[in-house]
Amino acid sequence: MHVTLLSRGLSIYTTRRLAQAARLRGARVRVLDPLGVEMHLDDRPAAFYRQRKLPPTDVVVPRIAPSIQAYGLAVVNHFGMMGVPTLNDATAIASSRNKMRSLQLLAASGVPVPATVMAATASDLREMVELVGGVPVLIKLLTPAERPGVMVCESLQSMEAAMEAVLSMGHNLLVQRYVRRRRERDLRALVVGGRAVAWVERRPRPGRLLHTRARGAQLKAVKVPAAVDRIAVEAARVVGLEVAAVDLIETHGGPMVFDVNSSPGLKGLERATGKDLALPIIGRAEELARSQPRRKQAP
Ligand SMILES: Nc1ncnc2c1ncn2[C@@H]1O[C@H](COP(=O)(O)OP(=O)(O)OP(=O)(O)O)[C@@H](O)[C@H]1O
Ligand SMILES: [Mg+2]
Repeated sequence: MHVTLLSRGLSIYTTRRLAQAARLRGARVRVLDPLGVEMHLDDRPAAFYRQRKLPPTDVVVPRIAPSIQAYGLAVVNHFGMMGVPTLNDATAIASSRNKMRSLQLLAASGVPVPATVMAATASDLREMVELVGGVPVLIKLLTPAERPGVMVCESLQSMEAAMEAVLSMGHNLLVQRYVRRRRERDLRALVVGGRAVAWVERRPRPGRLLHTRARGAQLKAVKVPAAVDRIAVEAARVVGLEVAAVDLIETHGGPMVFDVNSSPGLKGLERATGKDLALPIIGRAEELARSQPRRKQAP
């Protein structure tokens, strides 16, 4: 088995762990910087790496940073066109990185999500705020990059100021109901191949609203009821992701999915759970490679 990791390099924890897991399973591994892949389209698609023809590979595991999304997803799609299974595929990654698109997919399949509105102008949004229950609300960037893309607005004035600022910078935004939590934590599931392989809770540092690890949240392994597990698995499925971190908030009305991530970092999850989470990802990649025998790649 030959596994290609599309990533900026082995200095990244998750990339390193995936490479180790693949080797442990006896696969050959190559890490390709997506920006070093050149694509050729003619009667059949071909790929090069730094001007050399790429030898065949059985499966691609993409780890595309949002900062190189357009090029990176073209590369992922190119492998798909060459008949190589990709874990995840370009369409699913793109959906997960567009917050409205992923919420639409979730809502259409009956996955509970926070009430959300989207409009192109501040005045329309102002009129629509009642639809999500009025202030407080969250303003979220449609396509957040590596930087945080969420603001809490407690008053109509602060909401208007935030909306004007974001829109004038040329960003699209969503206005979302600020959901009241049943417990002071977020839940995150790592879903791989239709199964939740890890569950953690994320508690913010005291006084912090946001629960992401980068901002100092505490991660801890947890067990969740089967019904919550099913929601996370369904969320990954409807966005089309083989590998996903699904984020949920527990409300008095049940859990709600607020984010689905297609390139989750494994560091915090592995430390919190004490599990090897790279192995199931590589295991799933191999499974797909076997069940979807590679079409002949261009010689
Ligand atoms: N509707 C909501 N109500 C209350 N809190 C929320 C809601 N949506 C998100 N949050 C909180 O805000 C944080 C960031 O939200 P989200 O993941 O949607 O944004 P993001 O741009 O993906 O940011 P990050 O990169 O930090 O995940 C979450 O960790 C969660 O604690
Ligand atoms: Mg998020």
